[in-house]
Amino acid sequence: MKYNFDEVINRKNTNCVKWDSDLESDILPMWIADMDFKVADPIIKALEDRVKHGVFGYADIPEAYYKAEIKWWEKRHNFRIKKEWIEVTTGVIPALSAAVQAFTEPGDKVLIQSPVYNYFNTSITNNKCSIVLNELNYNGRSYEIDFEDFEKKASDPKVKIFILCNPHNPIGIAWRKDTLERLGEICLRHNVVVVVDEIHRDLVYKERTHMPFASISKGFLMNSITCTAPSKTFNLAGLKTSNIIVANEEYRKKINRSLNINETIEPNIFGIEGLIAAYNYGEEWLSQLLEYLEGNLNFLISFIDSKLPGLKVVKPSATYLIWIDCRKLGISSKEFCYRLLHDGKLRISDGSIYGKGGEGFIRINIACSRTILEEGLNRLAKVVNLFN
Ligand SMILES: Cc1ncc(COP(=O)(O)O)c(C=O)c1O
Repeated sequence: MKYNFDEVINRKNTNCVKWDSDLESDILPMWIADMDFKVADPIIKALEDRVKHGVFGYADIPEAYYKAEIKWWEKRHNFRIKKEWIEVTTGVIPALSAAVQAFTEPGDKVLIQSPVYNYFNTSITNNKCSIVLNELNYNGRSYEIDFEDFEKKASDPKVKIFILCNPHNPIGIAWRKDTLERLGEICLRHNVVVVVDEIHRDLVYKERTHMPFASISKGFLMNSITCTAPSKTFNLAGLKTSNIIVANEEYRKKINRSLNINETIEPNIFGIEGLIAAYNYGEEWLSQLLEYLEGNLNFLISFIDSKLPGLKVVKPSATYLIWIDCRKLGISSKEFCYRLLHDGKLRISDGSIYGKGGEGFIRINIACSRTILEEGLNRLAKVVNLFN
């Protein structure tokens, strides 16, 4: 069936963080990472059927859930996982937090690469660890990793884990196998556990494929835990369901313990149905979504290239979160976002919240209908032109 991603769905007054948290009703939100699209029909049907039953008590995870997860990994990512490797939890952030607790003591250090998704910081500091940064280097077009710096930091005995974001939010890179190999080898050399956030794994543009870190070698598999969810792929973030893949039994026991301590191990009945339907019947919707997002990306790039030469899009290989270099404007990204909000009625994400290297950049969510995207870009242009 043909899905209509051009349809504009009114999300206001639905308890929606993106559309309901601004007091002024005329603000256009293009910030938080969920999509404005209606989810795939088989998911809606599965949830409707569950609602019709009318009883929503505590849930158990059925065999069909594990089967759907395993099948998706193999079919979409060419990686065979086992049922016993899967730990279920309420989101990728709870998973990361559990991982920090499982592998560190208060006072230990956690390695991350900035700019990066800002909740990595809170997962670390909430668990009384400190952050060690391997800053990603922007070369004016894309990003490079300073491996020497990475190894120096990983070799600190206080560094217990590295949280890898692949594909990387906010810079939009699906890391290549050779890059992952270098990072993984360094972590093995220095006994640093790799915690991989692969929540954006399915949202990769045509010329690239996602490489699951744990699939690269037995050594990587046994030294990593991988956090995933159907939430970004299928727009199910509110169903609060994610999976942690842990092949190493010793690691798995530790993760399971942390999830129990945090009481984040109980599944959500709708999340179970959503995941099963998404992974079994969502591929048709996903392939049309990826085409639509690619169209949105091309639209944004040609709009900015032709109308806003002061801005530069960092062309992503993955994610619907687009990272834009605004440094030529000569103002801080915080000030720019303030002006966008107040003069342009447009809410986007300030790059500086993603840590070192994020200053001077903004992040725009393009997972919306083309008309909304065009409106957002016109608002962006209106404010940029005030500076000229
Ligand atoms: C890289 C990354 N990890 C985790 C999350 C949030 O995961 P969850 O809602 O499952 O906690 C996001 C949301 O934007 C993200 O971009």
